Amino acid sequence: MVQIRLNEKQKEAVEHKEGPLLIIAGAGTGKTSVITQRVIHIMKSKWAKPAEILALTFTEKAAEEMVERIDIEMEYGYEEPWVSTFHAFCDRVLHSDGHYIGLDTNYSLMTQAQSYIFMRKHIFDFPLDIFRPQGNPTQFINDLIKHFSRLQDEDCSPDDYLQFVKELPQKTDEEKQRYKELKELAETYKMYSEFKIEESKLDFGDLINLTLKLFRDRPSVLRKYQDKFKYILVDEFQDTNYTQNVLVNTLVLGKDYKNERKLPRNLTVVGDDDQAIYKFRGAAISNILQFKERYPDAKEIVLTQNYRS
Ligand SMILES: Nc1ncnc2c1ncn2[C@@H]1O[C@H](COP(=O)(O)OP(=O)(O)O)[C@@H](O)[C@H]1O
Ligand SMILES: [Mg+2]
Repeated sequence: MVQIRLNEKQKEAVEHKEGPLLIIAGAGTGKTSVITQRVIHIMKSKWAKPAEILALTFTEKAAEEMVERIDIEMEYGYEEPWVSTFHAFCDRVLHSDGHYIGLDTNYSLMTQAQSYIFMRKHIFDFPLDIFRPQGNPTQFINDLIKHFSRLQDEDCSPDDYLQFVKELPQKTDEEKQRYKELKELAETYKMYSEFKIEESKLDFGDLINLTLKLFRDRPSVLRKYQDKFKYILVDEFQDTNYTQNVLVNTLVLGKDYKNERKLPRNLTVVGDDDQAIYKFRGAAISNILQFKERYPDAKEIVLTQNYRS
């Protein structure tokens, strides 16, 4: 690991003290390096204690890179900041506080293959008709899982979905058909979610959604984490999905983003603008636009120098 010499823009981003900060740049411009150096700078300047810093990433790889770099720069035995993927962060929160929303905190995590098996085991329990053809009852399992996962990514709870379906028009034959299909999906989504909780089996989407639910339903738990984290940093922001985005905003601004507690908004996000345009899954570029709207006073820094090509 070579010690890098930060360029001027990188340095500015690393040393930004207070308030929201948006860093935008292409791949190889040192975004992950900047987030990492910023965490180190915050600790060394004593703007916050290590345990008061939360750095989140989308991929395991970026989290590992950051942990490793921080480890090299800090003295042996330093207290560790929270640096992890969204999923690992939520896993940690749920293990510690999930019981507040009725979760057995010894839950196990299901892989995609395990989710399939779980759905198959319950296939005749679900209120399915159109999506459970008699000739091949398991035909739609993968589609159902994909659909539910998409709903989770879009912060659509089973009750939200049921409410949406309830309000659908049912006049024409087409509308009636659509209503029937979506009702089936919404009711199955609800039951599937309940079965998972009952059997203490969560999927990756649940980690995010249940943590958000915990923060929304239990103000004292949210307050605990808000008081804990003085700085929150998000790498690979363009890849975070809508629900992850809501989770971060809820941590920073509180439920409904009202910031009633007048908390400091030391949120840094680092996003790749050109990778995002080509994505349609999740929130993509709109994350960055939404961030600008949500934090209009955010400082914006653009990194232009590429160190990879
Ligand atoms: N100021 C710098 N001087 C020299 N190398 C740098 C500098 N900033 C970043 N790098 C190097 O560029 C590469 C890409 O950095 P990284 O932080 O992973 O970029 P990104 O997250 O934007 O893709 C790494 O090898 C890193 O060490
Ligand atoms: Mg990176």
